Amino acid sequence: MVRSVVMGSGSALPAGVVTNEDLAKRVDTSDEWIVQRTGIRERRIAGPGEFTSTLGLSAARQAIASAGLVPADIDLVLLATSTPDNTFPASAVSIQAELGITHGAAFDMQAVCSGFVYGLATADAYLRTGLAQRAVVIGAETFSRIVDWEDRTTCVLFADGAGAVVLEAQTASGEVSDRGILASKLRADGRHRDKLYVDGGPSSTGTVGHLRMHGREVFKHAVAMITDVIEDVFAQTGLSAADIDWFVPHQANRRIIDASARKLGIPDEKVVVTVDRHGNTSAASIPLALDVAVRDGRIKRGDLVLVEAMGGGFTWGASLIRW
Ligand code: UT7
Repeated sequence: MVRSVVMGSGSALPAGVVTNEDLAKRVDTSDEWIVQRTGIRERRIAGPGEFTSTLGLSAARQAIASAGLVPADIDLVLLATSTPDNTFPASAVSIQAELGITHGAAFDMQAVCSGFVYGLATADAYLRTGLAQRAVVIGAETFSRIVDWEDRTTCVLFADGAGAVVLEAQTASGEVSDRGILASKLRADGRHRDKLYVDGGPSSTGTVGHLRMHGREVFKHAVAMITDVIEDVFAQTGLSAADIDWFVPHQANRRIIDASARKLGIPDEKVVVTVDRHGNTSAASIPLALDVAVRDGRIKRGDLVLVEAMGGGFTWGASLIRW
């Protein structure tokens, strides 16, 4: 059988750091409230000249280099984003062009905060069915451009950044000891689409719109949905929480991360947390956190890594990866 093996990772953050104190000067909030309710201490916000595609390009370049490959080796550029540079063409084709790739496929995928997990599972399906050989899967966002900077309930949460991994189709035994993506589960339930949404778009208002969220409603569903898909990937593989080396959750809120880990029985020291420094970067948060943990030496070849996300739609999903 064929497995999609992670060959390298990369990430990119805007230069500008915005602290909770900085935000307290703009809206009625405080460092204490933000830290206590979310765990966020600071985040990066894109400046002039920094776009979803430029951040995604930097992350993709790093991922390809760390895989020991060159851009011409890549035949699928998959960008998970809800904040593309333009309505169309896909920002993935800008990244493809800047990388100098003129073969294969490139497209954007939109599943909001679950975008990277959706992207991984989609690229995995392309690789396993022979539609592509090597993919760069990128999560890149500039949520600062769609938040309402007057709305304290959302502007303190979301931020900008990008991360990427390179996947390669490799022949494998089919055992759970194989390297690569071992299992994925994706879910959506559009009945919840009004709990986290943008109030504009090309076909409805002809404007970009602003992010709106009923945070408490999202919070209420998050842990149950996350743990449900994780139980599913455990059932698919026969693996359990005890086998996990690293839990790399979507970085929305420290309280959701802690509650999910606790419910699954994963100890704190195996949980990768970056929400304190990055805020919620939507589809970028997981690949950013993965790359941080690879570069600081935590995630090593052969480790079993569990990723999960839940967000607007609602969409949610999980993947089990042998690094
Ligand atoms: O990544 C996509 C998925 N998104 C998420 O996972 C987000 C899920 N939701 C959350 O993380 C949390 O619901 C929030 C962090 C958004 C909010 O935390 P909460 O504990 O659910 O607070 P709340 O919405 O119940 O608000 C509590 C109070 C309210 O005041 P009252 O009505 O009790 O007087 C808010 O108006 O906190 C107030 N508040 C703030 N106060 C200071 C809301 N935002 C702020 C703020 N600063 N920035």
